[in-house]
Amino acid sequence: MRKPIIAGNWKMNNTANEGVALINALKPLVAYADCDVAVCVPAIDIPAAAEALKGSNIALGAQNVHFAEKGAFTGEISANMLKEYGVKYVIIGHSERRQYFGETDETVNKRTLAALNAGLIPIVCIGESLEERETGKTEAVLDKQITEGMKGIDDISKIVIAYEPVWAIGTGKTATSEQANETIGYIRKKLAEVFCPNCAAKVRIQYGGSMNAGNCKDLMAMEEIDGGLIGGASLKPNDFAAIVNYNK
Ligand code: 13P
Repeated sequence: MRKPIIAGNWKMNNTANEGVALINALKPLVAYADCDVAVCVPAIDIPAAAEALKGSNIALGAQNVHFAEKGAFTGEISANMLKEYGVKYVIIGHSERRQYFGETDETVNKRTLAALNAGLIPIVCIGESLEERETGKTEAVLDKQITEGMKGIDDISKIVIAYEPVWAIGTGKTATSEQANETIGYIRKKLAEVFCPNCAAKVRIQYGGSMNAGNCKDLMAMEEIDGGLIGGASLKPNDFAAIVNYNK
């Protein structure tokens, strides 16, 4: 049985003080969640968020990690720096990083291996653009993101995958639950082929892209969907809590 995981991706929103206020509002609303809950916050919010999350059932996540242990990488943050604050999850290869910051499957792979090595749980993002979907390239794109981005992972069940079709992110245009289920089913089939069927059956695969309080029940009812990576709706405590409590 895969335990669902609902994670908020705050992206570049919330100063540390705003983040603490959001966390304090959220804590009582999600205290009885049946799923794993996390908030992935901007790096500079991490110390304050870690303090505010103490004693709660909400885990702390980061939005990126560098692959080197340490050294001359101005502006970057290592896995150990995150670990010291109790960070548990780290988003890797979000489409915004691929689109605006030159992230490639190769760097996604290096970051993922470094995160695993340090005992963090990577949330590796994959997904196709609208043009790729419309020209029938979805499976080929996902194949490459899996074979290259996840190369060399010993136990694939140690990562979380977020399937985020780029055309559904921040657009209000959600994939239908059938579309998301079918594509996530394809991802699991590919993982079984590249890694092993047993491990593929254990990997938690989230859906991400305009998931909200209104559509979360339908999405979460699908067999292949094991959670959500939530952008916009994670910035509002009531909306995020409604998603976390999708089964109540
Ligand atoms: P939205 O929920 O705002 O569409 O963002 C999804 C996302 O990119 C989560 O990582």
